Amino acid sequence: RLVPTILCGGAGSRLWPVSRDLHPKPFIRLADGQSLLHKAFLRGAKLPGVQEVLTVTNRELFFKTQDEFKEVNEANLPLSYLLEPFGRGTAAAIAAAALSVEKSHGGDALLLVLPADHLIEDQAAFAAAVAQATRLASAGRLVTFGIRPSAPDTGYGYIEANGSDVLRFVEKPSLETARSYVESGHFHWNSGMFCFSAASILREMEQHAGEVLSAVRACITASRAATGSNVTQLELDADTFDKVPNTSIDYAVMEKAQGVAVVPCDIGWSDIGSWNAIGDLAIADTQGNRIEGKAVLYDVSNCYFRGAGRVIGAVGVANLVVIDTPDALLIADKSRSQDVRHVYAQLKAEG
Ligand code: GDD
Ligand code: MG
Repeated sequence: RLVPTILCGGAGSRLWPVSRDLHPKPFIRLADGQSLLHKAFLRGAKLPGVQEVLTVTNRELFFKTQDEFKEVNEANLPLSYLLEPFGRGTAAAIAAAALSVEKSHGGDALLLVLPADHLIEDQAAFAAAVAQATRLASAGRLVTFGIRPSAPDTGYGYIEANGSDVLRFVEKPSLETARSYVESGHFHWNSGMFCFSAASILREMEQHAGEVLSAVRACITASRAATGSNVTQLELDADTFDKVPNTSIDYAVMEKAQGVAVVPCDIGWSDIGSWNAIGDLAIADTQGNRIEGKAVLYDVSNCYFRGAGRVIGAVGVANLVVIDTPDALLIADKSRSQDVRHVYAQLKAEG
């Protein structure tokens, strides 16, 4: 059994003002009308043999998430939710998911961890990669999905491999290190998706992230489950979840575990990290401008405009990202769209 396990957390601060605490990145809609979360759901649900989807998300996002899934769960797959009172990082989220899958289907059941905020353009290639991953995962391996790096990006994990065997996993290296990795040609980016059996990941967590695992176990024991028609949810108890160390699966487990495998894949993957990446999905006009909504331009080139009902007018500018919302407007240089997180951080600090 293969259980797609969607991770939906984190505010996506680089995508302010559309991405907020209560409207984070997975809920952002793309030009085709679908949200990243819709796409993540369908990506998992459409795989052969899938019979349910598990989602780990913040309890404040529960109803919103359910509404999203209603729009796309045409096969009426049973849905389960693990609801966090607050984020404690991906190690905790995955520990809770693995314990829950082990409890309902046994340790041999496989989890396919899918971040809710990625884009994968080639579903057939993705399904083929998952098929390969499930074979390795059934043999007890922790499987990563490797992407050919296009730049020395320091926001990713890097995987050094010999065939499908991972020699080293390095989470978010320095720029200098990332450069040498990309130049060497032996490294993949970690896509952030994983496949492993519940027993394998719990065994590795026991060894390398024992505190996270025992704290999550204690939390689950203290938590209340509720069951409705076709929906099961476990609301994680806040007092005990508060004691879980905050760390990511990459630092806590993947960097340390033995016998990690990688499936190199060419699936049209993008983690949509910035407005630039979202803009690039829209079709450019002859001046290189990409427009969502209504914009009237005069002598403007290489800009991305995303409106929110109002008309945007622009004259004599180039290389800008302009994102309008009813209560906030972002204007950024295109080459700086990663730095939007600083605006978000400043606003948060001001309350
Ligand atoms: N439920 C839940 N709870 N989900 C979470 C939490 C949490 O506390 N923290 C993060 N997530 C979700 C995010 O919503 C996202 O879908 C996914 O887990 C990964 O978290 P990010 O915060 O986006 O991680 P990252 O981008 O810094 O790094 C990871 O992804 C890269 C690829 O995009 C790592 O796995 C890197 O190695 C990888 O290269
Ligand atoms: Mg990310």
